[in-house]
Amino acid sequence: TRKLILDSDGGVDDAQALLMLIAAGRTPDAITTVFGNVGLDAATRNLLTVLAVGGRPDVPVHKGAARPLNQPVIDAKYIHGEDGLGGAPRPETIPQTASDNAVAFLIDTFLAAASAGEKVDILMIGPFTNLALALRLEPAIVAGIGQLTIMGGTIYGRGNTTPAAEFNVYADPEAAQIVFTAPLDIVIAPWEPCVTHNMTGAEVDTLFADVPDGLEKDFSLALAAHARQTIAGYGGGDNFRFVDPLAAAAVIAPDIVTKSTRASVDVALAPGITRGMTVVDPSGRLGTPMVTLIEEARLDQLVALYRASIAFRPAAT
Ligand code: BDR
Ligand code: CA
Repeated sequence: TRKLILDSDGGVDDAQALLMLIAAGRTPDAITTVFGNVGLDAATRNLLTVLAVGGRPDVPVHKGAARPLNQPVIDAKYIHGEDGLGGAPRPETIPQTASDNAVAFLIDTFLAAASAGEKVDILMIGPFTNLALALRLEPAIVAGIGQLTIMGGTIYGRGNTTPAAEFNVYADPEAAQIVFTAPLDIVIAPWEPCVTHNMTGAEVDTLFADVPDGLEKDFSLALAAHARQTIAGYGGGDNFRFVDPLAAAAVIAPDIVTKSTRASVDVALAPGITRGMTVVDPSGRLGTPMVTLIEEARLDQLVALYRASIAFRPAAT
């Protein structure tokens, strides 16, 4: 299988997505980090933490952009907590550190793949600043990029951060436009399918019933508990949603997708109520390359992958 890079802003659902990848044997070959749910340093620390909890401190982590291309930094601490992981219990020490060269790493990796006649896949579950910078500095990297899977945007324009915009796009709309309109093989998990797959709190509790105790269980349990509290706080009832995990699941098991749409996607940049809105056009009139938007996916498979991530125990080293 192709090499995989994960680009992430280190929130609660990012952590769940990474644990799912590790448990499914699809551990990223490298991680690039970006500001978003929390600041860049906290996001990086969180992803290093997940690698430690998941028994994969060997995975290299590269710090990327600390702010968007053309607006002030925002965060989503009101959703993910001050530390970005909902206060989940962490290992005493993190054995590994991150280097601070994400954009150079992306350019070198994709150019090397292109010259070797290979392609590297990338899964993006945070703001798109790192890849946007790499594409602007070295457009030739598109020859080395395989499938680009993204959690971001909306199909029908119902945003979660503003009435029109989804968080990953709203955090850096210019970067999103650069990435969504690049000549690449893009699969997007927009907001809508990510939130039609809810589990009740009782169903989530059953997932933990037969899992052996340990830091991994406590960590996963804390992430799930925080995610439920957040949704409940937004009137979502005692539910649990798979947001970044759906994009990760589409990488692990593409057949999880049961309905998708091919369309052009562009991003509204003008200041005002539509800034960060993704405009989706199946007719292609926007003139930007067509991408695949996931509309429906199989919840049972998603739950199975999540369950496996909770039961997963790193190989005894
Ligand atoms: C996206 O925003 C972040 O808060 C989540 O981690 C996810 O990547 C959902 O809009
Ligand atoms: Ca994220």
